[in-house]
Amino acid sequence: MMEIPFHKPYITDDEINEVVNTIKSGWLTMGPKTVEFEENFKEYIFRDSGVGEKNRFAISLNSGTAALHLALKAIGLNAGDEVIIPTNTFIATAEVVTYFGAIPVLCDIEEDTHNIDVSKIEALITKRTKAIIPVHLGGQPCDMDEIIDIAKRNKLYVIEDAAHALPSKYKGKMIGTIGDITCFSFYATKTLTTGEGGMATTTNEDYAKRIKINRLHGISRDAWDRYTLKGSWYYEVVDNGYKYNTTDINAALGLAQLKKIDWMNERRAEVARKYTEAFKGTKVIPPVVKADRETSWHLYVVKVNNRSELFEKLKENGIGTSVHFIPVHKHPYYKETYGYRDENYPVANYVFEKSLSLPIYPGLTDKELSYISETVLKYAK
Ligand SMILES: Cc1ncc(COP(=O)(O)O)c(C=O)c1O
Repeated sequence: MMEIPFHKPYITDDEINEVVNTIKSGWLTMGPKTVEFEENFKEYIFRDSGVGEKNRFAISLNSGTAALHLALKAIGLNAGDEVIIPTNTFIATAEVVTYFGAIPVLCDIEEDTHNIDVSKIEALITKRTKAIIPVHLGGQPCDMDEIIDIAKRNKLYVIEDAAHALPSKYKGKMIGTIGDITCFSFYATKTLTTGEGGMATTTNEDYAKRIKINRLHGISRDAWDRYTLKGSWYYEVVDNGYKYNTTDINAALGLAQLKKIDWMNERRAEVARKYTEAFKGTKVIPPVVKADRETSWHLYVVKVNNRSELFEKLKENGIGTSVHFIPVHKHPYYKETYGYRDENYPVANYVFEKSLSLPIYPGLTDKELSYISETVLKYAK
Protein backbone atom coordinates (compact mmCIF):
# COMPACT_ATOMS: atom_id res chain seq x y z
CA MET A 1 0.00 0.00 0.00
CA MET A 2 1.21 3.52 -0.77
CA GLU A 3 1.01 6.43 1.70
CA ILE A 4 -0.03 9.60 -0.14
CA PRO A 5 -0.93 12.72 1.87
CA PHE A 6 -3.61 15.11 0.58
CA HIS A 7 -0.97 17.80 0.25
CA LYS A 8 2.80 18.16 0.24
CA PRO A 9 4.45 21.58 -0.26
CA TYR A 10 7.14 21.67 -2.93
CA ILE A 11 10.16 22.84 -0.92
CA THR A 12 13.71 22.43 -2.19
CA ASP A 13 17.15 23.76 -1.21
CA ASP A 14 16.23 27.02 -3.02
CA GLU A 15 13.64 27.84 -0.37
CA ILE A 16 15.81 26.58 2.49
CA ASN A 17 18.82 28.65 1.37
CA GLU A 18 16.73 31.82 0.94
CA VAL A 19 15.29 31.43 4.45
CA VAL A 20 18.66 30.63 6.05
CA ASN A 21 20.32 33.60 4.32
CA THR A 22 17.54 35.86 5.53
CA ILE A 23 17.91 34.69 9.11
CA LYS A 24 21.69 35.19 8.85
CA SER A 25 21.16 38.74 7.51
CA GLY A 26 19.86 39.80 10.91
CA TRP A 27 16.67 41.38 9.52
CA LEU A 28 13.82 39.05 10.49
CA THR A 29 10.55 40.96 10.31
CA MET A 30 9.11 43.00 7.41
CA GLY A 31 12.04 44.56 5.57
CA PRO A 32 14.04 44.26 2.33
CA LYS A 33 12.90 40.71 1.50
CA THR A 34 9.26 41.68 1.91
CA VAL A 35 9.77 44.66 -0.40
CA GLU A 36 11.47 42.39 -2.96
CA PHE A 37 8.68 39.81 -2.70
CA GLU A 38 6.04 42.50 -3.26
CA GLU A 39 7.97 43.87 -6.26
CA ASN A 40 8.40 40.45 -7.86
CA PHE A 41 4.81 39.46 -7.18
CA LYS A 42 3.57 42.70 -8.72
CA GLU A 43 5.73 42.15 -11.79
CA TYR A 44 4.43 38.58 -12.10
CA ILE A 45 0.74 39.52 -11.82
CA PHE A 46 0.75 42.73 -13.88
CA ARG A 47 3.44 41.93 -16.48
CA ASP A 48 1.08 41.56 -19.46
CA SER A 49 -1.77 43.64 -18.08
CA GLY A 50 -1.13 46.94 -19.81
CA VAL A 51 -1.50 48.63 -16.40
CA GLY A 52 1.08 51.41 -15.98
CA GLU A 53 3.92 50.91 -13.50
CA LYS A 54 2.62 53.57 -11.09
CA ASN A 55 -0.83 51.96 -10.89
CA ARG A 56 0.40 48.50 -9.92
CA PHE A 57 0.21 47.66 -6.23
CA ALA A 58 0.89 44.48 -4.25
CA ILE A 59 0.77 44.57 -0.46
CA SER A 60 2.07 41.61 1.49
CA LEU A 61 0.07 40.45 4.54
CA ASN A 62 0.29 37.67 7.09
CA SER A 63 -2.70 35.73 5.69
CA GLY A 64 -5.31 35.68 2.96
CA THR A 65 -7.88 36.40 5.66
CA ALA A 66 -5.98 39.59 6.62
CA ALA A 67 -5.91 40.59 2.92
CA LEU A 68 -9.71 40.18 2.66
CA HIS A 69 -10.24 42.04 5.95
CA LEU A 70 -8.13 45.03 4.93
CA ALA A 71 -9.63 45.05 1.42
CA LEU A 72 -13.09 45.46 2.97
CA LYS A 73 -11.73 48.17 5.27
CA ALA A 74 -10.17 49.94 2.29
CA ILE A 75 -13.54 50.20 0.51
CA GLY A 76 -15.14 51.50 3.73
CA LEU A 77 -17.44 48.60 4.63
CA ASN A 78 -19.74 49.55 7.52
CA ALA A 79 -21.99 47.86 10.07
CA GLY A 80 -25.29 46.84 8.49
CA ASP A 81 -23.86 46.71 4.94
CA GLU A 82 -24.36 43.51 2.96
CA VAL A 83 -21.74 41.61 0.98
CA ILE A 84 -22.65 38.88 -1.50
CA ILE A 85 -20.45 35.79 -1.36
CA PRO A 86 -20.87 32.20 -2.61
CA THR A 87 -21.96 29.73 0.05
CA ASN A 88 -19.38 27.23 -1.22
CA THR A 89 -16.26 28.79 0.27
CA PHE A 90 -13.92 28.60 3.23
CA ILE A 91 -15.36 30.34 6.26
CA ALA A 92 -12.75 33.16 6.04
CA THR A 93 -14.71 34.74 3.16
CA ALA A 94 -17.81 35.11 5.37
CA GLU A 95 -15.96 35.81 8.60
CA VAL A 96 -14.21 38.96 7.35
CA VAL A 97 -17.59 40.50 6.51
CA THR A 98 -18.79 39.91 10.08
CA TYR A 99 -15.71 41.73 11.49
CA PHE A 100 -17.48 44.97 10.45
CA GLY A 101 -20.92 44.06 11.78
CA ALA A 102 -21.84 43.67 8.10
CA ILE A 103 -23.91 40.77 6.74
CA PRO A 104 -22.63 37.98 4.47
CA VAL A 105 -25.41 37.31 1.94
CA LEU A 106 -24.98 33.84 0.46
CA CYS A 107 -25.42 33.00 -3.20
CA ASP A 108 -25.87 29.51 -4.65
CA ILE A 109 -23.28 28.05 -7.03
CA GLU A 110 -22.99 26.47 -10.49
CA GLU A 111 -23.11 22.70 -10.72
CA ASP A 112 -20.24 22.40 -13.21
CA THR A 113 -17.59 24.83 -11.89
CA HIS A 114 -18.79 25.05 -8.22
CA ASN A 115 -18.28 28.84 -8.51
CA ILE A 116 -20.84 31.54 -7.66
CA ASP A 117 -23.87 31.38 -10.00
CA VAL A 118 -23.92 34.88 -11.51
CA SER A 119 -27.52 34.45 -12.67
CA LYS A 120 -28.57 34.40 -8.99
CA ILE A 121 -26.65 37.47 -7.80
CA GLU A 122 -29.01 40.30 -8.80
CA ALA A 123 -31.96 38.88 -6.87
CA LEU A 124 -29.85 39.22 -3.70
CA ILE A 125 -28.99 42.90 -4.16
CA THR A 126 -30.66 45.34 -1.76
CA LYS A 127 -30.11 49.00 -0.86
CA ARG A 128 -27.57 47.82 1.71
CA THR A 129 -25.43 45.76 -0.66
CA LYS A 130 -21.92 47.19 -0.85
CA ALA A 131 -19.75 44.52 -2.47
CA ILE A 132 -19.48 41.13 -4.11
CA ILE A 133 -16.71 38.71 -3.20
CA PRO A 134 -16.39 36.12 -5.98
CA VAL A 135 -14.27 33.14 -4.91
CA HIS A 136 -12.26 31.47 -7.69
CA LEU A 137 -12.81 27.96 -6.40
CA GLY A 138 -9.88 25.63 -6.79
CA GLY A 139 -8.31 28.28 -9.03
CA GLN A 140 -10.94 28.46 -11.77
CA PRO A 141 -11.92 32.11 -12.35
CA CYS A 142 -15.57 33.06 -11.84
CA ASP A 143 -17.63 34.72 -14.62
CA MET A 144 -15.86 38.05 -14.13
CA ASP A 145 -17.40 39.98 -17.06
CA GLU A 146 -20.89 39.34 -15.70
CA ILE A 147 -19.82 40.12 -12.12
CA ILE A 148 -18.13 43.40 -13.09
CA ASP A 149 -21.19 44.35 -15.15
CA ILE A 150 -23.58 43.67 -12.24
CA ALA A 151 -21.26 45.60 -9.90
CA LYS A 152 -21.08 48.62 -12.24
CA ARG A 153 -24.83 48.77 -12.77
CA ASN A 154 -25.48 48.54 -9.02
CA LYS A 155 -22.48 50.61 -7.81
CA LEU A 156 -20.89 47.74 -5.90
CA TYR A 157 -17.27 46.95 -5.18
CA VAL A 158 -15.70 43.69 -6.36
CA ILE A 159 -13.19 42.13 -3.96
CA GLU A 160 -11.86 38.89 -5.41
CA ASP A 161 -11.08 35.98 -3.11
CA ALA A 162 -8.17 34.54 -5.07
CA ALA A 163 -6.87 32.39 -2.21
CA HIS A 164 -6.75 29.50 -4.71
CA ALA A 165 -6.05 31.40 -7.91
CA LEU A 166 -2.31 31.83 -8.41
CA PRO A 167 -1.72 31.69 -11.32
CA SER A 168 -5.13 31.81 -13.02
CA LYS A 169 -6.37 33.66 -16.07
CA TYR A 170 -9.77 34.91 -17.19
CA LYS A 171 -10.00 35.61 -20.93
CA GLY A 172 -6.24 36.08 -21.02
CA LYS A 173 -6.16 38.44 -17.99
CA MET A 174 -4.29 37.42 -14.86
CA ILE A 175 -6.40 37.08 -11.75
CA GLY A 176 -5.17 39.93 -9.61
CA THR A 177 -5.70 42.60 -12.27
CA ILE A 178 -9.50 42.62 -12.66
CA GLY A 179 -11.55 43.53 -9.55
CA ASP A 180 -11.13 46.52 -7.21
CA ILE A 181 -8.88 44.49 -4.92
CA THR A 182 -7.75 40.85 -5.22
CA CYS A 183 -6.70 38.76 -2.22
CA PHE A 184 -4.30 35.82 -2.41
CA SER A 185 -3.37 33.27 0.28
CA PHE A 186 0.02 31.65 0.80
CA TYR A 187 -1.17 29.17 3.43
CA ALA A 188 0.80 25.89 3.60
CA THR A 189 -1.42 24.02 1.11
CA LYS A 190 -1.65 26.79 -1.47
CA THR A 191 -0.03 26.85 -4.93
CA LEU A 192 2.63 29.24 -3.58
CA THR A 193 3.33 29.02 0.11
CA THR A 194 5.12 31.15 2.67
CA GLY A 195 3.90 28.92 5.53
CA GLU A 196 1.27 31.52 6.34
CA GLY A 197 0.80 34.66 4.29
CA GLY A 198 -1.26 36.63 1.83
CA MET A 199 -1.13 39.43 -0.71
CA ALA A 200 -3.57 42.11 -1.86
CA THR A 201 -3.26 43.49 -5.39
CA THR A 202 -5.00 46.55 -6.78
CA THR A 203 -4.61 49.31 -9.36
CA ASN A 204 -6.04 51.92 -6.97
CA GLU A 205 -3.44 53.89 -5.04
CA ASP A 206 -5.84 54.91 -2.25
CA TYR A 207 -6.80 51.30 -1.50
CA ALA A 208 -3.14 50.30 -1.56
CA LYS A 209 -2.25 53.08 0.90
CA ARG A 210 -5.05 52.16 3.30
CA ILE A 211 -4.12 48.47 3.25
CA LYS A 212 -0.45 49.30 3.82
CA ILE A 213 -1.19 51.60 6.74
CA ASN A 214 -3.67 49.22 8.33
CA ARG A 215 -1.36 46.21 8.17
CA LEU A 216 0.84 47.83 10.82
CA HIS A 217 -1.34 49.41 13.52
CA GLY A 218 -2.49 52.28 11.31
CA ILE A 219 1.02 53.75 11.47
CA SER A 220 1.90 55.99 8.57
CA ARG A 221 5.33 54.40 7.99
CA ASP A 222 6.71 50.83 8.05
CA ALA A 223 9.25 49.52 10.54
CA TRP A 224 11.63 49.36 7.61
CA ASP A 225 11.52 53.17 7.41
CA ARG A 226 11.67 53.56 11.18
CA TYR A 227 14.50 51.28 12.20
CA THR A 228 17.05 51.67 9.42
CA LEU A 229 19.73 54.36 9.52
CA LYS A 230 17.67 56.49 7.12
CA GLY A 231 14.75 56.46 9.54
CA SER A 232 13.49 58.76 12.25
CA TRP A 233 11.86 58.00 15.63
CA TYR A 234 8.71 59.90 14.69
CA TYR A 235 5.53 58.24 13.45
CA GLU A 236 1.82 58.96 13.47
CA VAL A 237 -1.15 56.64 13.83
CA VAL A 238 -3.64 57.70 11.17
CA ASP A 239 -6.16 54.81 11.28
CA ASN A 240 -7.32 52.06 13.69
CA GLY A 241 -5.14 49.35 12.20
CA TYR A 242 -4.04 45.79 12.85
CA LYS A 243 -0.85 43.72 13.21
CA TYR A 244 -1.04 41.99 9.83
CA ASN A 245 2.46 42.49 8.45
CA THR A 246 4.56 39.63 7.09
CA THR A 247 8.12 38.76 8.06
CA ASP A 248 11.20 38.62 5.86
CA ILE A 249 11.52 34.93 6.75
CA ASN A 250 8.14 34.24 5.12
CA ALA A 251 8.94 36.56 2.21
CA ALA A 252 12.19 34.67 1.55
CA LEU A 253 10.19 31.46 1.19
CA GLY A 254 7.77 33.27 -1.13
CA LEU A 255 10.57 34.67 -3.31
CA ALA A 256 11.99 31.21 -3.94
CA GLN A 257 8.51 29.78 -4.61
CA LEU A 258 7.58 32.57 -7.02
CA LYS A 259 10.57 31.74 -9.23
CA LYS A 260 9.09 28.29 -9.93
CA ILE A 261 5.37 29.12 -9.91
CA ASP A 262 4.92 28.57 -13.67
CA TRP A 263 6.70 25.23 -13.58
CA MET A 264 4.67 24.14 -10.53
CA ASN A 265 1.49 25.17 -12.36
CA GLU A 266 2.43 23.13 -15.44
CA ARG A 267 3.04 20.08 -13.30
CA ARG A 268 -0.33 20.48 -11.54
CA ALA A 269 -2.04 20.84 -14.93
CA GLU A 270 -0.38 17.63 -16.06
CA VAL A 271 -1.66 15.81 -12.96
CA ALA A 272 -5.15 17.16 -13.69
CA ARG A 273 -4.99 16.05 -17.33
CA LYS A 274 -4.00 12.53 -16.30
CA TYR A 275 -6.77 12.26 -13.69
CA THR A 276 -9.35 13.53 -16.18
CA GLU A 277 -8.16 11.02 -18.77
CA ALA A 278 -8.45 8.18 -16.21
CA PHE A 279 -11.99 9.20 -15.17
CA LYS A 280 -13.37 9.74 -18.70
CA GLY A 281 -16.58 7.74 -19.23
CA THR A 282 -16.62 6.39 -15.63
CA LYS A 283 -18.86 7.03 -12.59
CA VAL A 284 -16.41 9.69 -11.42
CA ILE A 285 -17.33 13.20 -12.63
CA PRO A 286 -14.13 15.22 -13.19
CA PRO A 287 -13.94 19.02 -12.77
CA VAL A 288 -15.07 21.21 -15.66
CA VAL A 289 -12.94 24.16 -16.78
CA LYS A 290 -14.66 26.75 -18.99
CA ALA A 291 -13.00 27.31 -22.36
CA ASP A 292 -11.96 30.94 -21.82
CA ARG A 293 -10.06 30.43 -18.54
CA GLU A 294 -6.91 28.94 -17.13
CA THR A 295 -6.85 27.53 -13.62
CA SER A 296 -4.07 27.27 -11.07
CA TRP A 297 -5.31 23.74 -10.33
CA HIS A 298 -5.09 24.37 -6.60
CA LEU A 299 -7.80 21.71 -6.24
CA TYR A 300 -8.98 18.74 -8.26
CA VAL A 301 -12.57 18.14 -7.11
CA VAL A 302 -14.47 15.11 -8.40
CA LYS A 303 -18.12 14.26 -7.84
CA VAL A 304 -19.23 10.73 -6.89
CA ASN A 305 -22.39 9.22 -5.43
CA ASN A 306 -20.66 7.74 -2.37
CA ARG A 307 -18.43 10.61 -1.26
CA SER A 308 -18.16 9.79 2.47
CA GLU A 309 -17.65 6.08 1.83
CA LEU A 310 -15.02 6.83 -0.83
CA PHE A 311 -13.20 9.15 1.59
CA GLU A 312 -12.95 6.28 4.10
CA LYS A 313 -11.94 3.69 1.48
CA LEU A 314 -9.18 5.96 0.17
CA LYS A 315 -8.00 6.59 3.72
CA GLU A 316 -7.84 2.82 4.38
CA ASN A 317 -5.72 2.61 1.22
CA GLY A 318 -3.29 5.30 2.37
CA ILE A 319 -4.68 8.18 0.28
CA GLY A 320 -5.49 11.52 1.90
CA THR A 321 -8.41 13.49 0.43
CA SER A 322 -10.50 16.46 1.54
CA VAL A 323 -13.81 18.26 0.96
CA HIS A 324 -14.05 21.82 -0.41
CA PHE A 325 -16.16 23.06 1.20
CA ILE A 326 -18.80 22.54 3.86
CA PRO A 327 -21.05 25.40 2.63
CA VAL A 328 -21.24 28.46 4.89
CA HIS A 329 -25.03 28.05 5.34
CA LYS A 330 -24.49 24.66 7.05
CA HIS A 331 -22.20 25.89 9.86
CA PRO A 332 -24.15 26.21 13.13
CA TYR A 333 -22.85 29.67 14.08
CA TYR A 334 -23.69 31.18 10.72
CA LYS A 335 -27.01 29.39 10.40
CA GLU A 336 -28.14 30.57 13.83
CA THR A 337 -26.82 34.12 13.50
CA TYR A 338 -27.99 34.88 9.96
CA GLY A 339 -30.93 32.45 9.56
CA TYR A 340 -29.67 30.79 6.37
CA ARG A 341 -32.01 28.08 5.09
CA ASP A 342 -30.78 24.91 3.43
CA GLU A 343 -33.47 25.00 0.74
CA ASN A 344 -32.13 28.28 -0.68
CA TYR A 345 -28.92 26.59 -1.86
CA PRO A 346 -29.98 23.42 -3.72
CA VAL A 347 -26.96 23.28 -6.04
CA ALA A 348 -24.43 23.86 -3.25
CA ASN A 349 -26.14 21.12 -1.21
CA TYR A 350 -25.95 18.70 -4.15
CA VAL A 351 -22.30 19.55 -4.89
CA PHE A 352 -21.37 19.28 -1.21
CA GLU A 353 -22.87 15.78 -0.92
CA LYS A 354 -20.88 14.52 -3.90
CA SER A 355 -17.55 16.37 -3.83
CA LEU A 356 -14.16 14.97 -2.96
CA SER A 357 -10.81 16.71 -3.53
CA LEU A 358 -7.99 14.42 -4.66
CA PRO A 359 -4.26 15.02 -4.06
CA ILE A 360 -2.78 17.42 -6.64
CA TYR A 361 0.68 18.94 -6.22
CA PRO A 362 3.91 19.27 -8.22
CA GLY A 363 5.71 16.52 -6.29
CA LEU A 364 3.04 13.88 -6.97
CA THR A 365 4.66 11.07 -8.98
CA ASP A 366 3.06 9.28 -11.95
CA LYS A 367 3.11 6.07 -9.91
CA GLU A 368 1.21 7.75 -7.05
CA LEU A 369 -1.20 9.31 -9.54
CA SER A 370 -2.00 5.92 -11.13
CA TYR A 371 -2.46 4.36 -7.70
CA ILE A 372 -4.91 7.12 -6.70
CA SER A 373 -6.92 6.92 -9.97
CA GLU A 374 -7.13 3.11 -9.79
CA THR A 375 -8.18 3.14 -6.14
CA VAL A 376 -10.79 5.86 -6.78
CA LEU A 377 -12.22 3.87 -9.71
CA LYS A 378 -12.27 0.67 -7.64
CA TYR A 379 -14.45 2.17 -4.86
CA ALA A 380 -16.39 5.02 -6.51
CA LYS A 381 -20.13 4.58 -6.99
C1 LIG B 1 -11.40 30.38 -0.40
C2 LIG B 1 -10.49 30.84 0.71
N1 LIG B 1 -10.55 32.12 1.09
C3 LIG B 1 -9.75 32.59 2.06
C4 LIG B 1 -8.84 31.79 2.72
C5 LIG B 1 -8.02 32.35 3.81
O1 LIG B 1 -6.64 32.30 3.59
P1 LIG B 1 -5.62 32.21 4.80
O2 LIG B 1 -5.66 30.83 5.36
O3 LIG B 1 -4.31 32.55 4.19
O4 LIG B 1 -6.04 33.23 5.81
C6 LIG B 1 -8.75 30.44 2.34
C7 LIG B 1 -7.78 29.58 3.03
O5 LIG B 1 -7.74 28.42 3.00
C8 LIG B 1 -9.60 29.96 1.32
O6 LIG B 1 -9.57 28.67 0.94
